[in-house]
Amino acid sequence: MLPEHLKVNEEGHLVVGGCDTVDLAEQFGTPLYVMDEGLIRKICRAYKDSFAMYYGGQGTPVYASKAFCCKEMCRIVKSEGFDLEIVSGGELYTALAAGFDPAHIHFNGNNKTCEEIRYALEQKVGHILVDNIEELHLIQKFSEVMNRVTTVSLRIKPGIDAHTHQFIRTGQIDSKFGFALETGEAMQAVQETLALPNLDLEGVQCHIGSQIFDIAPFVEAAKVMLQFMQDVREKTGVTVRVLDLGGGFGIRYTDADQPVPYNDYMREVSTAIHKKCRELSFPVPYVYIEPGRSVVGEAGLTLYTVGSVKEIPGVRNYVAVDGGMTDNPRYILYQSAYDVLLANHADRAPDYTATVAGRCCESGDLIQENVKMGKPKAGDLIAVLSTGAYNYSMASNYNRVCRPPVIMVRGGSPRVVVRRESYEDLIRNDL
Ligand code: LLP
Repeated sequence: MLPEHLKVNEEGHLVVGGCDTVDLAEQFGTPLYVMDEGLIRKICRAYKDSFAMYYGGQGTPVYASKAFCCKEMCRIVKSEGFDLEIVSGGELYTALAAGFDPAHIHFNGNNKTCEEIRYALEQKVGHILVDNIEELHLIQKFSEVMNRVTTVSLRIKPGIDAHTHQFIRTGQIDSKFGFALETGEAMQAVQETLALPNLDLEGVQCHIGSQIFDIAPFVEAAKVMLQFMQDVREKTGVTVRVLDLGGGFGIRYTDADQPVPYNDYMREVSTAIHKKCRELSFPVPYVYIEPGRSVVGEAGLTLYTVGSVKEIPGVRNYVAVDGGMTDNPRYILYQSAYDVLLANHADRAPDYTATVAGRCCESGDLIQENVKMGKPKAGDLIAVLSTGAYNYSMASNYNRVCRPPVIMVRGGSPRVVVRRESYEDLIRNDL
């Protein structure tokens, strides 16, 4: 069963965003990242609608740009009314180059450099998420020198491990991100922030993990965070006004994944927030969430050309493609599952077992092992689905392979949003 946004035309070719993938491969070459802009915008609108429905507009989705960052993506989320999450000077530079309003940028990261902090303050980035005490003092120091007040939130570890089968409220103290609740470190950080004259503590933030399918850990995290906000009020007399719940909503890579409809998540979390606020007589905070993968993951696919098929009897069938770990490192890193289709014969029965291999000098450079697909031969076109998140953004130039271009497709028209790297690009910084 194909995902809803993909079709197969009369010629048996896979179609995305109204574009025949065989034509796309001819026009732009392979490997090729293809992003369905209509689907990205549809998902953005679903998030915005949920915020309107469940928070009466008292909240905003923040796109986590690490999932897929380029100027055009920044422009798209900007036009959909999202804020933008960044974790580096490079992501900030990209966002500013795309005309993103810095007041709506949220700067995360567990070890921002002095240069990055100064850069963000100079550019008037609206929200800084502070990870540690050293950073807190650096922001104070720079703010004082610049004679300004900087709005900050504190990254908190709520003590919820969402990646166990049944999520548990332990363990997460062992994380490099943020201040721990259990040890009193978080409260201490709040008190220290409040004592610094050039900082305005707007709120608290957490992020409990990624590719999560349960709603319960998100609900639990929201409750723990609200309780902490209440504790802060009791201890310091200060009511912080923002609750940022991070990202992490799971997407469908294969049939094994059963994502929760985002609206259900939004409804249940907002119900829990409103209930807890009533219990605590605490004013409902302004809410941010930071979805990355769920905005772009399913909207992307990667097209490759088959170079060779090596059938090793009794062992496996290697199908070599013209990309690999350089454009999709997620299999070698996490053994991530993907659906693979024969894009130029998408109507062919998926009765062939293929190990799709990349072209790097690494035996582990695989896109997928023993995956079912239509029987391929050299010259055929392969599509790997749901590659929109953390593929382009984690791509590399290993073996001096040029990174593929990214094209957006919508209503039958493709356009290049990131051009293909050239050999010249590869040596640009070589002396
Ligand atoms: N906010 C914070 C603070 C984060 O650390 C992340 C992701 C997000 C938001 C977005 O989470 P998402 O909605 O995309 O799950 N490279 C890995 C994923 C790493 C996620 C890191 N943080 C992968 O390819 O699966």
